[in-house]
Amino acid sequence: MEISTALMILSAITAYFLWLTFISRCLKGPRVWPLVGSLPVLPILETARLDSEPIDLQDLLLRLTFDNICGLTFGKDPRTCAPGLPVNTFSVAFDRATEASLQRFILPEILWKFKRLAGLGLEVSLTRSLVQVDNYLSEIIKTRKQDLTSKPNNDGAQHDDLLSRFIKKKETYSDEVLQRVALNFVLAGRDTSSVALSWFFWLITQNPTVEDKILREICAVLIETRGDDVALWIDEPLACEELDRLVYLKAALSETLRLYPSVPEDSKRAVKDDVLPDGTFVPAGSSVTYSIYSAGRMRSTWGDDCLEFKPERWISRSDGGRFINHDPFKFVAFNAGPRICLGKDLAYLQMKSIAAAVLLRHRLTVVTGHKVEQKMSLTLFMKYGLLVNVRNRDLTAIAADLREKTDCESNAVNDGVGNGVRR
Ligand code: HEM
Repeated sequence: MEISTALMILSAITAYFLWLTFISRCLKGPRVWPLVGSLPVLPILETARLDSEPIDLQDLLLRLTFDNICGLTFGKDPRTCAPGLPVNTFSVAFDRATEASLQRFILPEILWKFKRLAGLGLEVSLTRSLVQVDNYLSEIIKTRKQDLTSKPNNDGAQHDDLLSRFIKKKETYSDEVLQRVALNFVLAGRDTSSVALSWFFWLITQNPTVEDKILREICAVLIETRGDDVALWIDEPLACEELDRLVYLKAALSETLRLYPSVPEDSKRAVKDDVLPDGTFVPAGSSVTYSIYSAGRMRSTWGDDCLEFKPERWISRSDGGRFINHDPFKFVAFNAGPRICLGKDLAYLQMKSIAAAVLLRHRLTVVTGHKVEQKMSLTLFMKYGLLVNVRNRDLTAIAADLREKTDCESNAVNDGVGNGVRR
C-alpha cells in the first residue's frame, strides 16, 4: 500500500472516531441540550395559531434542524427560525448546491459535464452556490483557528463544537479537510431529521388513534415526573430522562422512517472486486444502489400489513411493552454495518423532543386541498411542503382520564387486588 493511501485511511479513521466520540458525548452531556432542547419554532407556531394563518411545517422544521446542526458543527446558530423567518445565504446556497448535485446522479455523465463546460442550467448555480458555501465556511474556520490560538487556555469552555475539536487535535488538518468534515456533518444531520418529522406529523394527522396514544404516553410520563398540574408540563422542554421513556413515540417515529425513509436510496462504489451475500459478482469500479424506500415496504420482510402505519410493530407484546430494535439489515433507514448512521441516537432524541413539544401545545391539521407528494431528491422531501393549521391543544380531558386511572390502580393496590401485577 502506498504511503499516501495509508495516510488517507488513517485520517479517515481518526475523523470517524472523532465524529463518533463527539456525537456520543453530546448525548451524555448537557451541551446538546440548549441546541436541541430549546425550540425556537414554538413562538412561530403560536403566532400562526393566534393569527389563524396556515404555516409550512416542513420549512419550519428544516430551519430548526439547520440551526441545531450548525450549532453542533461549528458553534454558530444562524437563527433562521427568528421571527419573520429570515433568509440565510448559507442555507440557500447549501440547498441549491444539494439540488444541483442531484442532477449529476440523474443525468448521464456526458450531459452534465457538457452543461458544466457550456455553463448551462443548474451547473451554473452549483458553481456559484459552492463558492458561497466555501466562503462562509472558510471564514468560520479562519476565525475559529484565530480564536483558539489566541486563547489557548480557554480550551473547551467556549468552543466545544465538532469543528473546534478537530482544530484542537494534535494532528493538523488542512482547511480543506475541516471544511469537508463540517459540510458532511451538516449534510448528514440537517434535512434527515426534519423530513422524517414532516412525514411523522402528516401521518399522525391521518391516524388520530396513534396521535392520541402518543399524547397519553407523554402525559403519563409527565404526571409521574412533574405532577398533575398541566401548566408544568409545558413550562420547559422535556428532559433527556423523560424523552427516554417515550417508547410509543419512538415506535411511531421508526414506523414513519420505515415507510418514508429520509434517505430513500443509497449508493456504494466498489473499490475492488467483491461478491454480494447472494453470490452476485460486483466488479471493481461499479456502483451499487439499493432502495431503502422499497426495503421498508417489502411484504416478504414486513408482512401483509407492510403498507399500513402501525407503530405497534415496534412494541413487544410479550415483554412489557419494550421497544423492539429490528435488525438494522431489515430496517435500513439508518444504513447498517460499519457505515451505520452515527447520529441515529441524537436524531431520535431531537425528533422526540420536537414532536413532544409541538404535540403538547398544538393540534395540527393539514390545510384542506393541500397536496402531500414526494419530491424526487436525495432526501425524501414533501414536494409542496406541509401546510398546516395550528390550533390549541387542550390536555385537560387526557389529564383527568389518566388521573382517574392512576387513582383506580392505587385503590386496587391498597385493596390488595393489584398484588403480583407487573407494571
Ligand atoms: C432521521 C434522521 C437520520 C436518518 C434517517 C439518517 C440516515 C443516515 C444514512 C442512511 C446514512 C448512511 C449514508 C451512506 O451510506 O452514505 C447516514 C450516515 C451518517 N449520518 Fe445519519 N441520519 C439521520 C440523522 C443524522 C444526524 C442528526 C446526524 C448528526 C448529528 C447524522 C450523522 C451521520 C453521519 C456522520 C453519517 C456518516 C457515517 C459514516 O459514513 O460512517 N445523521 N445517516
